[in-house]
Amino acid sequence: MARGKAKDGDGNWKKFIWNSEKKELLGRTGGSWFKILLFYVIFYGCLAGIFIGTIQVMLLTVSEFEPKYQDRVAPPGLTQIPQVQKTEISFTASDPKSFEPYVKNLEKFLKDYSADQQTENIVFQDCGETPTDYKERGPYNDAQGQKKVCKFKREWLENCSGINDPTFGYRDGKPCILVKLNRIIGFKPKAPVNESLPPEVMAKYNPYLIPVHCSAKREEDADKIGTVEYYGMGGHPGFALQYYPYYGKLLQPRYLQPLVAVQFTNLTYDMEVRVECRAYGQNIQYSDKDRFQGRFDIKFDIKSS
Ligand SMILES: *[C@@H]1O[C@H](CO)[C@@H](O)[C@H](O)[C@H]1NC(C)=O
Ligand SMILES: *[C@@H]1O[C@H](CO)[C@@H](O)[C@H](O)[C@H]1NC(C)=O
Ligand SMILES: *[C@@H]1O[C@H](CO)[C@@H](O)[C@H](O)[C@H]1NC(C)=O
Repeated sequence: MARGKAKDGDGNWKKFIWNSEKKELLGRTGGSWFKILLFYVIFYGCLAGIFIGTIQVMLLTVSEFEPKYQDRVAPPGLTQIPQVQKTEISFTASDPKSFEPYVKNLEKFLKDYSADQQTENIVFQDCGETPTDYKERGPYNDAQGQKKVCKFKREWLENCSGINDPTFGYRDGKPCILVKLNRIIGFKPKAPVNESLPPEVMAKYNPYLIPVHCSAKREEDADKIGTVEYYGMGGHPGFALQYYPYYGKLLQPRYLQPLVAVQFTNLTYDMEVRVECRAYGQNIQYSDKDRFQGRFDIKFDIKSS
């Protein structure tokens, strides 16, 4: 009995899926199913068409070379090498293992800045050793092929170049960091107004330079930061304007961002010293929300043993 019932139930179930008498699948005839299928094919076809069409129109109006919506690009970020987690540099001068990651990071970043990487005269241009005005290189398209880029001599970074001291000062407890302004296509940083600068930065004023300055983040650290040395193009502690504007990866694949190296030669050991570095310019802003906009913080903790 139980078996028969089960069989009956089974039959109903099958009938529900495929009713052979009425030729219905799940209660619908083939024609009905076909209409549903047709509806969805057309419906999704139209959706895909609209989607592809929108993207095509978008691509037609966007230049591959120049960003169309430049105003949406955030103001330039200021960042440091070595890139560190928790923006903390902590090591023991007598223990090479403790600062090896920083040194490796610096070395890797500076590879492109070596003299032997800047020998091709069709790519690199000598832009002098003193800051000068922007170098405009024509329209943002490839009608004239790729554009030249200014050389940046690694030697300018002196004691932070890694040339004489392959540990970038870390073995002597005098760590170097490199400071760069993030690249933004077409961005022209404007030099600051002389009078607007804090007194300690005023001395670095040059009408064609974006000066960089690092100081203690907290007042109580002011006497712990020690002497700060700056190295940059021809001894100028900032970013020279002739490196701008940047034309993008397609037109200037080997562009070298100008760098400023900052060396802390007399940091107090065995305590956290918080340092803030800033770039100064009329169109370089700072924001409380974005910690890297025009400035950054970094903590040093050098252990004496
Ligand atoms: C660079 O390093 C050399 C050798 O350690 C030192 O004599 C010189 O004073 C350093 N230069 C600066 C600007 O600190
Ligand atoms: C910048 O301002 C300072 C003080 O006002 C002045 O001594 C210096 O000559 C100025 N520099 C330039 C290049 O104008
Ligand atoms: C380094 O800093 C200490 C105080 O923290 C100071 O006594 C000393 O003179 C400084 N050394 C140099 C070379 O500036």
